[in-house]
Amino acid sequence: LSISVASSGGNQTSGKQYGIMFEDINHSGDGGIYAELIRNRAFQGSPVFPSMLDPWASVNGAALSLKNLSDALSSALPTSLHVAVGNGSDGPIGFANPGWWGIDVKEQKYTGSFYVKGDYKGTFTASLQSYLTNEAYGGVNIESKAKSSEWVQHEFTIVPSNAPNINNTFSITFDPDGVKGGSLDFNLISLFPPTYKNRPNGMRVDLMELLAGLKPSFLRLPGGNNLEGNDPPYYWRWNETIGPLEDRPGRPGTWGYENTDGLGLIEYMNWCDDLGMEPILAVWAGYYLDGTALSNASVQYYVQDALHELEFLMGSVDSEYGSLRAKLGYPKPWNIKYVEVGNEDNLGQGGSSYQSYRFDDFYYAIHAKYPDILVIPSTVAYESTLPGASTGDYHQYTRPDYFVSQFNFFDHYPQNRTALIGEYAAVQPNIAAGGGVNWDDPRWKFPYWIGTIGEAVFLIGAERNADKILGAAYAPLFQNLNSYEWGPDLISYTADPAQDVKSTSYHMIQLLSSHRIAETLPATSDSGYGPVYWVAGKNDDSHIFKGAVYNSTEAYNSSAPVPVSVSFSGVSAGASGALTVLTAPAPYTHNDIGVNVVKTTTTHVSAGKDGAFSFHLPDYSVAVLEVRG
Ligand code: AHR
Repeated sequence: LSISVASSGGNQTSGKQYGIMFEDINHSGDGGIYAELIRNRAFQGSPVFPSMLDPWASVNGAALSLKNLSDALSSALPTSLHVAVGNGSDGPIGFANPGWWGIDVKEQKYTGSFYVKGDYKGTFTASLQSYLTNEAYGGVNIESKAKSSEWVQHEFTIVPSNAPNINNTFSITFDPDGVKGGSLDFNLISLFPPTYKNRPNGMRVDLMELLAGLKPSFLRLPGGNNLEGNDPPYYWRWNETIGPLEDRPGRPGTWGYENTDGLGLIEYMNWCDDLGMEPILAVWAGYYLDGTALSNASVQYYVQDALHELEFLMGSVDSEYGSLRAKLGYPKPWNIKYVEVGNEDNLGQGGSSYQSYRFDDFYYAIHAKYPDILVIPSTVAYESTLPGASTGDYHQYTRPDYFVSQFNFFDHYPQNRTALIGEYAAVQPNIAAGGGVNWDDPRWKFPYWIGTIGEAVFLIGAERNADKILGAAYAPLFQNLNSYEWGPDLISYTADPAQDVKSTSYHMIQLLSSHRIAETLPATSDSGYGPVYWVAGKNDDSHIFKGAVYNSTEAYNSSAPVPVSVSFSGVSAGASGALTVLTAPAPYTHNDIGVNVVKTTTTHVSAGKDGAFSFHLPDYSVAVLEVRG
């Protein structure tokens, strides 16, 4: 394959080609990137997922139960832990929590707090210990300020010694002899390790560092299905995810568990700031996953609510909602450039109401107040019929071969329209009959290499159509391996950072995202696309070639490595470049805890006398050549 790249005449890219998509699924927020270590810290529940004691356990015979006290900690957190002092307990009693399937205990500062109500003179002990051996790694005594008349918060820090594994619990104990009245009540029992950039109520450091490694340009939030809610009235409500944790009731998420909403709207904005990402803020569009669509009349309330949310984020401190943001410690407004209306409104029964009024209602209201915001429909299905809608959200979950067949999908996309690829993933193996996903078939737990290469071909096809693509985000992003609803996912983990799994697709996206083309360049070649699929372009500093090799026969190494020669107009003989090639030992292979099948090879290549860079690309590989200058 011989490619000659011109020096100009291509298309500008959005500058945001690679980003991430987040919703709380697979314990990606609670039990995931949100660094809170205590599972079920505030006994939040709903008619869908009633409050529960699990996974709290009694220490030394304390009788634990849940109570909805008339003087609850807050109206948002009505349920608390009642600890009855049994007769004849010998020594301290209390309760323990195993965290999100383990607690990573290291010699570092943990910051905790709890609320207690009741008459107690003495000290509380907050400690971290092994639940297998009971070995103590660290603890702190906290002088009781408890009162029977009100809830009193107690704060503490612990610097434990290193534990050998994550089989640990956090406990709070106290001396039953100091309790008058036979019981104490507790709520909002919280413990954080150091967080990314040391933000209070912040994010898990290891997972944020993995995300930073992807160099993402945008964050699509907060869903996905989790924005929508399974049925009335459980959509994602921005105003219940802000302010003190005591005031956040949580809600039944759409993925089988109650969300604490400790990771709320402001935390999302901080997340964007910390990783330099542009928020793509999704607002609820009046549709639940059970098929309930709001009438045109009732949608107006939610349109106003979206405007309030935007004023909260963007308004001056003198505006009603901007002043609320300032009161919460954030006087400086954020600047929202992208708002997506709903999620996948081409699916289910929501389509006709979306087309006839739901999108319009949001679009006209948002556009009138914020003309600079790009209002994005949640689908590309009937985007051309929607007002002002030039960018729709394209989702694709499919098989590797199908992704390869979509290499030219955006070549045929209308010239006056652009797409956000808000979700994509290869989720199932190829089948003889070809075609796309079958939702009745099992999906992969982890991305497989063949799927990763299929995705790479699709992404390179998208990069070739730079002017039609806002950016692309793999979905779902995260998977807690102890409890998940959806595979495959980009990053998998447990409570132990040493077990983080960067999937094969993580490595591929990291490569493509780390070498950004600002402007594509037209090229001629001596053969068509396949088995090498490629794009060429440049940025201020470099000329770039990106290629993926995919033989749809699946006969691995069916062809010898493909000889490739690339010359860039304006780059002369002797110039040198770095060629990075990702390969794996087999197409149906995947990463796992402690296993990385992706081999990354970087070599320096020089342009020959003819000015061309010559190299070979193996079957099922993805490669980037970057030439400075
Ligand atoms: O990414 C998982 C789900 O797939 C998303 O919540 C939804 O938008 C899509 O159907």
